[in-house]
Amino acid sequence: MDPTSLKPESIAAQALGWVDEQTRAITPPIHVSSTYLRDPDNQYRSGRVYARADNPAFDQPEAVIARLEQGAAAGLFASGMAAATAVFLALKPGDHVLAPKVMYWSLRNWLMNFATQWGLKVELVDMTDPAAVRAAIRRGETRLVWVETPANPLWSVTDIAATAAIAHEAGALLAVDSTVATPVLTRPFEHGADIVMHAGTKYLGGHSDLIAGVLVTREDGDFWKRVKLVRAQVGGTLGSFEAFLLMRGMRTLYLRVRQACASAQRIAEHFEHHPLVEAVLYPGLRAFPGHEIAARQMTGGFGGMMSIRAKGGERAAIATAANVALWKRATSLGGTESLIEHRASVEGAGTPAPADLLRLSVGIEDAGDLIADLEQALRRAHA
Ligand SMILES: Cc1ncc(COP(=O)(O)O)c(C=O)c1O
Repeated sequence: MDPTSLKPESIAAQALGWVDEQTRAITPPIHVSSTYLRDPDNQYRSGRVYARADNPAFDQPEAVIARLEQGAAAGLFASGMAAATAVFLALKPGDHVLAPKVMYWSLRNWLMNFATQWGLKVELVDMTDPAAVRAAIRRGETRLVWVETPANPLWSVTDIAATAAIAHEAGALLAVDSTVATPVLTRPFEHGADIVMHAGTKYLGGHSDLIAGVLVTREDGDFWKRVKLVRAQVGGTLGSFEAFLLMRGMRTLYLRVRQACASAQRIAEHFEHHPLVEAVLYPGLRAFPGHEIAARQMTGGFGGMMSIRAKGGERAAIATAANVALWKRATSLGGTESLIEHRASVEGAGTPAPADLLRLSVGIEDAGDLIADLEQALRRAHA
């Protein structure tokens, strides 16, 4: 069978079918060495020198994620934040970048409080509005446009193709935080993106047991070389055991994401017109503002992330989270277990999350159980 014709499900399940040449093991060994032997004639013919720059534990997961995203190369990082910040640190002080007003809060904080001090000119725009992006972009000066879709914590949807066209016209790169969509639902390179980023901590790992980040590039060119240098020199390198866990998680990515999508759709539809719920924010609902773009850009589902706004404001929202039994009250997303959190409490001042918003990460439990638990929690919050 021609391996290039394999479907992504087959690639992920068998991790590209690699076996360990030395032992014929189907699961790869975990290489833990921090350093590599130099040849007697002073060369490094193995191509490996020191594990901050490179590690055989990365080869298979990087090859798998590059293939699933249909990119030229991938790099693993110590966290999603290490991956995302490496893209910005590969730019130069004075460069102008556009980022969304609604995005993962910790990266927004880093951009506004650190990247600006380092010399980047950071401008936040409504990334869901191509006219706003076109108005803000500066030809020849804007080097990067950062997109997150669907975006935390309102799940705003950005049209990647339209935004990539605007970025490229101005001479900028387009990077997409595709953590929530995963390669199961969206392949940003098909829509013109140049860099794809994942918090591997979430769906790729999938079991809430590791912190990891991933970047994938469309072209293995000069910018990618700078990104890899940032990893090696700043040192946001993943550990060997985490690389193993990430690869193990990716083998079941397609099953987990499809289950989460199906359950999330059911939960969103159940609570959409619920008497104790003000609104459900989920790209899979027809009434959601970004639904049409999501339906074009996402294949096979709309993701496992949604938010509900509780009737009764902040007090009712916090009380609902306090009363769940099956959902776990915790931050993060993309694990097998469903999580609930009062997002404004996490993000603090400047959050776009309304005070009545609960962020839900739908796991792979029975959807009926999840609905029943939320129902009783909402009722108790209003009792
Ligand atoms: C969309 C998104 N991007 C990036 C990150 C950062 O990832 P990490 O926590 O692995 O640094 C997160 C973490 O919650 C996230 O949700």
